[in-house]
Amino acid sequence: MTTRRFGKIGWEIAPLGYGCWGLGGDWGPRDDTEGARALQRALALGVNFFDTAYVYGDGHSERLVGRVLRGWKGAPVYVATKVPAKTMEWPAQPTTPAARAFPTDWIIRCTEASLKRLGVETIDLQQLHVWTDTWVEADEWRKGAERLKRDGKIRAFGVSINDHEPDSALRLVATGEIDSVQVIYNLFEQSPEHKLFPLCQEHGVAVIARVPFDEGSLTGAFTTETRFPRGDWRAGYFKGTRLAETVERVDRLKEFLRPGVPTVSALALQFAIGHPAVSVVIPGMRRAAHVEANAAAVAGTPLTAEELARLRAHAWPRNFYVGAWD
Ligand SMILES: NC(=O)c1ccc[n+]([C@@H]2O[C@H](COP(=O)([O-])OP(=O)(O)OC[C@H]3O[C@@H](n4cnc5c(N)ncnc54)[C@H](OP(=O)(O)O)[C@@H]3O)[C@@H](O)[C@H]2O)c1
Repeated sequence: MTTRRFGKIGWEIAPLGYGCWGLGGDWGPRDDTEGARALQRALALGVNFFDTAYVYGDGHSERLVGRVLRGWKGAPVYVATKVPAKTMEWPAQPTTPAARAFPTDWIIRCTEASLKRLGVETIDLQQLHVWTDTWVEADEWRKGAERLKRDGKIRAFGVSINDHEPDSALRLVATGEIDSVQVIYNLFEQSPEHKLFPLCQEHGVAVIARVPFDEGSLTGAFTTETRFPRGDWRAGYFKGTRLAETVERVDRLKEFLRPGVPTVSALALQFAIGHPAVSVVIPGMRRAAHVEANAAAVAGTPLTAEELARLRAHAWPRNFYVGAWD
């Protein structure tokens, strides 16, 4: 895969990265054997950026990713993980003091625990799992990032932005103090293009595009009859009339399919990497077959400026995370 620069930190990253939430938990029955096979297939196909988090299966995803990556003898790969807020609040609340959400010792303690689970001496990218710009002036998170970098425990530091609130980290990006942001960017959620992406480009902040498939709908694999297995949190995300509304919207996208972009999932990935601010897209994948399909999709033909312009009409502002866990 042709690589892209990861912001000012300058790593050369394949545009297809790997989202590792589903490997940890919350997505129904877990299969570590198939998960490990999917990770190995990704490595073999040139994927070199893996995004996990402390909370994905309470460390399970980090342990699995660490085990597979330690066995990899090829070119260097980059691992990103995340520190949850000490308050365990999702999303970040502007009224919660930064000193309560991300005290320095919490950031350091969580990072040290992640280092152990991943089985490495340095984490390439540590991210705060939630963020609100009311914390920009606070010292605690800044001291944590500085100390971890100084002690060689992390190489880069960034934040993951609240769901569907891409403008909630603009002040932070403008400080130029972080290396990356992670944000929802897909055919439905296009709003990061307005303010966040130009600002990231101006400040050399890498953009990690998450949830490219809208938690699965933008693969084209769902019908109105789709049912989620026990333990799959998406039963809440697509509850009530949400699934039918979404399937109808996805169907309308099929007019864009053509040679080079033959499936809805290929269209979704080409859309996500179609913006020059995006350094890497990180679809969640638990199956080797999905890794292979997505690697082929990224190697397909880019969307034209005309196609990208027409796709703007398919933006669909909504937040299905609200109420998904009730
Ligand atoms: N707050 C945050 O920081 C935050 C929140 C959400 C996500 N994330 C990160 O972003 C990553 C991506 O988001 P996500 O995993 O939630 O959702 P997603 O990437 O939008 O969708 C994942 C779903 O797509 C399926 N899929 C992947 N490739 C496919 C293909 N070619 N054909 C059909 N189905 C395919 C996966 O199936 P299988 O799993 O069966 O392969 C999975 O069910 C996460 O893994 C995580 O690393 C971060």
